[in-house]
Amino acid sequence: MSLPADVLTSVPTTASAPHLPAPAPRRYLVCEPRHFDVQYAINPWMRAAAPVDKALASRQWEALISAYREHGHTVETVAPVAGLPDMVFAANAALVVGGRVFGSSFRAVQRQPEAGAYATWFETAGYDVHRPESPCEGEGDLVPAGRCILAGTGFRTSREAHAEVQEFFGLPTIGLRLVDPYFYHLDTALFVLDGTVTMDGTAAATTGAATTATGEATATATDTPTVTAPGGTPTPGEANIAYYPGAFSSGSREVLRHLFPDAVIATRDDAMAFGLNSVSDGRHVFIAPRATGLIDQLTHRGYVPVPVDLSEFHKAGGGIKCCTQEIR
Ligand code: ARG
Repeated sequence: MSLPADVLTSVPTTASAPHLPAPAPRRYLVCEPRHFDVQYAINPWMRAAAPVDKALASRQWEALISAYREHGHTVETVAPVAGLPDMVFAANAALVVGGRVFGSSFRAVQRQPEAGAYATWFETAGYDVHRPESPCEGEGDLVPAGRCILAGTGFRTSREAHAEVQEFFGLPTIGLRLVDPYFYHLDTALFVLDGTVTMDGTAAATTGAATTATGEATATATDTPTVTAPGGTPTPGEANIAYYPGAFSSGSREVLRHLFPDAVIATRDDAMAFGLNSVSDGRHVFIAPRATGLIDQLTHRGYVPVPVDLSEFHKAGGGIKCCTQEIR
């Protein structure tokens, strides 16, 4: 299929960034939006939703998949199930680090059957799936960053699940309280720019920033040092993130300031445009085109924004990251 113009124009050329290392290819699991719709309301976006334009949703989703593949990433698909209109939001299905799969237990009854559908996919692919005992919505609320896992709570994933996650992965799991119902999942308010780690202690991403828009080398906090510490494992400080502070309780804001002093701080407008529901491979950031302020900030830091418009999915409260499960 052909790519929309905005995707084509955003594909970086080696001419504009000749000295950047290629980002490590990522493996993403996605679910085609064949049955996608807004049929119930479990977040404020869904309450306000105009009818979904299904043909447009399908084109937008295909453009995201093409963008991932154009940038060298592997995309695998799980079969969509009729009657599960939110199943397209693959991020909620699990957290996978080092090949260990921590499955989901959805809070809303309407989404609960998705857990089994995704677990079947993982089991068929040869993984064991841990089923959580308390509500837990996968990468929607669990975000690996450096040597720790950032874990949202307040709307969906429970504090009890955070403890279970820490025990399962043996990685420090840092609870963050979400307070604004528009940002009900952590991945609507925060994303990792670089420094994602695998369980064997190696960095899965190259570091980000290295050039300005004019191709000049810069010395921003995100291009040095490398994400791999002498011991082989990045610390939280070696990962970097972007987030919207207003989505968090004051204590959680302090935690983020402390762990990520060089974070990119997004405005409410950019967050409401789903700009923080982005996927970064350490260099390219697949991002909602209406998050213009954030796109400017990322460009300034040397990242390469790749705009992909998923406006039909915003009606259900989801964006790029929500549609993407990373298999680490
Ligand atoms: N309608 C879905 C829900 O409310 C959207 C899920 C978005 N996913 C995400 N990872 N934030 O559960």
